[in-house]
Amino acid sequence: MRPQLGMHTLTDGRGLLFGGDYNPEQWPEEVWAEDVELMKAAGVNLVTVGVFSWARIEPEPGARDFGWLDRVLDLLGSAGIAVDLATPTASPPPWLGHRWPETLPVDESGHRLWYGSRNQFCPSSPVYRERALAIVTDLADRYAAHPALALWHVGNEYGQICHCDESAAAFRTWLQDRHGDLDALNEAWGTTFWSQRYSDWAEIIPPRRAPYMINPTQRLDWQRFCSDALLAHYRAERDILRGRTPGTPVTTNFMGLFKPVDYWSWAGEEDIVSNDWYPDPADPLSPARTALTHDLMRGLGQGRPWLLMEQATNGVNWRPHNLPKPPGQFRLESLQAVARGADGLCYFQWRASRFGAERFHAAMVPHAGPDTRLHAEVRAHGQELRQLAPVAGEPVPTQVAMVFDWASWWALEERGRPSDRLNAPDQLLSYYLPFWERGVSVDLVPPSAELSGYPLVVVPNLYLVGDQDAAALTAYVHGGGVLMVGPFSGIVDPRAHVRTGRFPAPLREVLGASGEEWLPAPEDRPVRCRWTGGTELAAHTRTGGAELAAHALTGGAELAAHALTGGAEFAAHTWTELVATEGAEAVAEFAEGDLAGHPAVLRHRAGQGVAWYVATMPEPVALGALAGRLLADAGVRGVLPDLPPGVEAVRRGDVLFLLNHGTATVRVPIPHAADDLLTGSPATGHVTLTPRAVAALRPRVQPHFGDPLA
Ligand code: GAL
Ligand code: ZN
Repeated sequence: MRPQLGMHTLTDGRGLLFGGDYNPEQWPEEVWAEDVELMKAAGVNLVTVGVFSWARIEPEPGARDFGWLDRVLDLLGSAGIAVDLATPTASPPPWLGHRWPETLPVDESGHRLWYGSRNQFCPSSPVYRERALAIVTDLADRYAAHPALALWHVGNEYGQICHCDESAAAFRTWLQDRHGDLDALNEAWGTTFWSQRYSDWAEIIPPRRAPYMINPTQRLDWQRFCSDALLAHYRAERDILRGRTPGTPVTTNFMGLFKPVDYWSWAGEEDIVSNDWYPDPADPLSPARTALTHDLMRGLGQGRPWLLMEQATNGVNWRPHNLPKPPGQFRLESLQAVARGADGLCYFQWRASRFGAERFHAAMVPHAGPDTRLHAEVRAHGQELRQLAPVAGEPVPTQVAMVFDWASWWALEERGRPSDRLNAPDQLLSYYLPFWERGVSVDLVPPSAELSGYPLVVVPNLYLVGDQDAAALTAYVHGGGVLMVGPFSGIVDPRAHVRTGRFPAPLREVLGASGEEWLPAPEDRPVRCRWTGGTELAAHTRTGGAELAAHALTGGAELAAHALTGGAEFAAHTWTELVATEGAEAVAEFAEGDLAGHPAVLRHRAGQGVAWYVATMPEPVALGALAGRLLADAGVRGVLPDLPPGVEAVRRGDVLFLLNHGTATVRVPIPHAADDLLTGSPATGHVTLTPRAVAALRPRVQPHFGDPLA
């Protein structure tokens, strides 16, 4: 058994990690010396080196030039800065594509993509594989014993897709593994439809550009294959590294909810989960979207601390119009990651590039140099992170799980469905928001997760579900859990075949309800719905501001129907379903049109637990009311009772983080005396937070914030 090589192997003796991508190959060596001095002054203790250095290390096929990298690692090592050493395989040198064009990726139309940018490789190319593993082997041999080496960074942001003939061959092998014989494949792909029957494996190709919609199961299997093909390559590199440095953790940087790669299947293959995350300053939902992404990273690591590998100190350069970050913003974002379980806060990149495609991307040292507002903030932030050393390694306590699945995402967003406006990440975010606003921490989990430890489980959308996972959700409720399921869930099996009968067939019994028609709503008109009321429901309603935070952030809507008061109305949009109760109580019904009087939201007692079904897309304020009611059903509370709009509250270990994402100065009442780790000052009664301010409160005495006794 390998020892568990988590973040602690990096944080022990260092505290939280702080640093960024360092690309010294872009600079003369005199600059390196200045870099290291500046890094020390800023408290930098980890840098990622070598991500795009293949052409520098192997200037022509088979050559090796490690001298410069030796000097970089020695310099960093002697300054006490740990190195996250990257395998350089994300961006092959031009010679690879020039001499071996078959290593270049081919798009859906059969066009080869050229070198001149980055990422130009075919995941299934044997030549790419051989050359990549050769350079990784030599890199590992050379630096295995280097004292600065602390972490391996495999490739960069895996996500390449190739439709070439070599990929087609690899796809066929993968399909043979999955389906066995051609009859089984024809059955799984439903090839009697449109005369698609395959009579020879050689006929099977990737989903290339075709006259009309492509077989959805072919596409689903292709997406599974593409994720697995990249994973196989990652594992090949990782195994070389592990073979030479069994005590050094290995990671590869994820990209949040990135569609091409099923991170649930990847995460267990790394020692440390790491992520690149660039909140969009122009997106009012950025704080919640970011929180969700961080929770996903924690979920991928099964609760263990993770590493924020890349973020930006200021505007990026790859959006069409790149809003800057106001003073205090990157610090707020960085501390948000700490609050949600990150033990390392790194940036792309250390020093802004003078040339190349990213020369207008923010950095820790901007073009204007170290004597700048921005670099001063970088320095201050690096220093203050020392104060937070006590949270390193600490877990984020959670009682709510939210289920998300890549295969279901792929299948749901296939062409040819009732509406392309029902999307998996959007559904996830809309169900996540009300919990985030209430200071309720959420774990993101795969459908196969063990759920029994969670009082509340939310399934925003699970269009594709296997029999076993559906049975587990049912058993979870029978055993006393509270479950909420969003619309268009349980519709297809893992082959993307519709489960016939009333929907959602595999969850019908536990939900005590079933449907017969999906009715996408006209785009320009909300659908009025009405809470049906009832004493039991009214008793649990909550009023007040918390559910407004989403609106405050989007600058908008009124608090129309904040409680489940009988007769009160709310709006839904985009999607409705004709559903009948089979034992469930209609908590809300449609109030107009052909569905008037039919259930819109249902609640069903099943076994020891309660199951909810939402047959539409309620406006945020109504989802907020529902979340409040579900929390009551499950006996779960937020970490603080009343949060002002825009304030995020999350507990890590015994430290309560309060982060003000709003534009107003707010006063947050706190139930007991605490010390703010960031300022060293005591806090009693309340804390005042100016915009972008953060408090990290450690209670003086038990109980902790959010504990039942608090
Ligand atoms: C990441 C990438 C970095 C850099 C950065 C810019 O996707 O890993 O190399 O390109 O984006 O935001
Ligand atoms: Zn290819």
